[in-house]
Order: sequence, then structure tokens, then C-alpha cells
Amino acid sequence: MFESLQPVSADAILGLIAEYKDDPRTEKIDLGVGVYRTTEGDTPVLQVVKRAEQILIDEQESKVYIGTAGSADFNSAMQELIFGESCPVDRLVTIQAPGGSGSLRVAASMILRASPTASVWVSEPTWPNHTPLLAGAGLSLKSYPYYNALNHEIKFDDMISTLKDAPAGDVVLLHACCHNPTGLDLSNDEWRTLTDIMVDRNLIPFIDIAYQGFAEGLNEDVFCIRHMSERVPEMIVSSSCSKNFGLYRDRVGTLSILAINDKARDVVDSQINNLVRTIYSVPPDHGAAVVSLILNDAELRSAWVIELTEMRERLKSMRVMLNDALILRSSKHDFSHLVRATGMFCFLGIPIEQVLRLKKDFGIYMVDSSRINVAGITPSNVNYLADSIIATLR
Ligand code: LMR
Repeated sequence: MFESLQPVSADAILGLIAEYKDDPRTEKIDLGVGVYRTTEGDTPVLQVVKRAEQILIDEQESKVYIGTAGSADFNSAMQELIFGESCPVDRLVTIQAPGGSGSLRVAASMILRASPTASVWVSEPTWPNHTPLLAGAGLSLKSYPYYNALNHEIKFDDMISTLKDAPAGDVVLLHACCHNPTGLDLSNDEWRTLTDIMVDRNLIPFIDIAYQGFAEGLNEDVFCIRHMSERVPEMIVSSSCSKNFGLYRDRVGTLSILAINDKARDVVDSQINNLVRTIYSVPPDHGAAVVSLILNDAELRSAWVIELTEMRERLKSMRVMLNDALILRSSKHDFSHLVRATGMFCFLGIPIEQVLRLKKDFGIYMVDSSRINVAGITPSNVNYLADSIIATLR
């Protein structure tokens, strides 16, 4: 049976991990996969996570199954973190999911169960795995304009006019903050305008929030979710704790569905739990138990906010540092969009030939689209990085 299969190429983002690891050059720089790095270039376990893990080791009595929805304490803490204290809980279902990707996958199957003919609109561009993940689950995808590669700005008017023509009942995938790959987010006023369109056109928001706390702050970064949840009858939210809790490989996230009323909510609740049972049965527990301990304890929670703030501030300062280093070396090229973007990513805005040259000649790794993860920049590699970028542009 399996001999009939053809090999497929490595994932455009995850494939870079192995390529980088195999590169023997000491000056190499990893700007590829979206993981946070310290000034030393490490991705350590957060200190607050270590503390919560110790509590778990000391106090956890059993690893017996919890259930398809995972931990109720985790789910309610995450619901509050994302939707705020005054969210419409009687219309909302939140389940623990195996990371943001696991959540997206369950959401895709829920959309197919509820509305098999609905299309999902994704931004052009979007996270490269959105398309195979959602289309692979059987959804039909369409795209709306988002990024102007010439001036590095959001094509907001084009986005709105495209979505105005989308058929009622279609689903629109949006990045709550730190848009991946562009790093450019809508302003609060633009979110309000978009919400009006979603309500008028009866479109269903499907919001991916993988970087809460990495743009401006925990509350600021979920403005669109809180605003939309007050206005729209239905919405879907997939969240990830990979980045903001540094729990990448532990696979922690949530899927929330806002239903039109409490009766519909109970049906969604039964459907989603039934669905989960047919895919992975129950979600992994460890990382969610850690997050639950942190969010439900005032002292641990404030320790987490301090570490998160440190990560956000470092990302911001690395954007400025790279832009300054590039300005010093060349007045011909404008990289100021680096500092207009937020979170981990933005496009460098160079053609693929130069991306490949940076890899081959300088050991600098980024996604082929020229998306860089600014967490890979440090005070000790920024000069080499800027020299190399300018050298490839000559
Ligand atoms: C990224 O975009 O680099 C991250 O979200 C990691 C991933 O799974 O692709």
C-alpha cells in the first residue's frame, strides 16, 4: 500500500529547524520558526512554568482521564483571559485543545458539520500552515487581500470591499494580533469597521490568537475578540499557549465557539465533545495543568505577566536595533516597516534569490517569503546580520 506514495518536501517553516541545526557555521542566525529567544539565543522554560511544574510534581495525585473538553479550571481561566470578565458565558463553549493547530483542526471539522458549503476566507498572505491544515480538513478556502508588499501596509480598503461581497454564512479567518507573517495588525477603528461588515453581511469571524501579550499587552491584543463578541451572533476563536507560556511542545490551546443563544450553545457543546472523541479522544494535560495553576494563582499570574512583558519588550527593541543597524549601513533601502510591525514576525521584503543567498553565503535562515522571526536577533549578531543583508542587496 504505502509504496504507492510519493515523497513530499519538508514543511516550509519546520524544515528550517533541521537545516539550521545541520549548518556547522558558528556565526549562523536562525530567523525561521516562530519561537521566542533570549538575548543569549536560547528558548528556556519560563521560570513561572518551572515553578508550576514543581507544584504539579508535588501535588498531582493521578493522571486519570479528565474528559474530551479537558480541564474545566483551565478552560474558564483561558476564557476569561481571552474574552474578559464580562463575556457572554451563557453563549460560549471553551474546550482545551492540543495547541493552536489542534484547535484549528477541530474548528475546521465543526464548520464542516455545521455548514458544509461555507467557505473560509483567509488573509493573503496568512500563516503558511493555515491553508494545508484547513483545506486538508476538507474546507473550501478563499482569500482576501491583506498586505501591500510595495509599501508594507495593510490593504484595508481592498480587504473590506472583498469581504463585502462574500456570501452570507461564510467564515472569515482573522489574526487577533501579531499577524503571521506580516506583523501588521488592524487598528481598533479598523476592527470596528470590519465588525460592522461582519454583522451586516452575516459573516462568521474565526479568530486565531497565537500571540496574546506579544503585541501591546494581554488586554490590548484581544480588542477584536472582545469587541466582536459583543456584536456578532456567532464566532470561533482558536488560541495557543505555545508562545506566551513558552509551552510549544506541550501542545496547549483552546477552542471557543460563541453560539447565537444558550440553547444553541448546549448543542455546540455536545457536538464539539463528540467530535473530539473521534479525533484524539482527550487533550494532553500537562501543559494545560501548568497554565491553569499560573492563571488561577495571583502570585504566579503576576510572575508570568512580568516574564511575558520582558519577552514583548525584547522583541520590540530588536526590531529597532536591526532597523538602526540597516540605516547606518545604507540610506538607499528603507526597512522602517520592521518597527511598524509587532510580535515575532515581519517580511524583510527581499526577493527569494536574496533569501537563499543569505542562507548559503551567510548562514542566515528565514522562510522563503523573507519572513523573519525577530526573536532570533541579538545585540551580538545584529551587526553581522545587517552587514549580510546589505551585502546581498548590492
Ligand atoms: C511559525 O509560524 O513559525 C510558528 O507558528 C510555528 C509553526 O508551527 O509554524
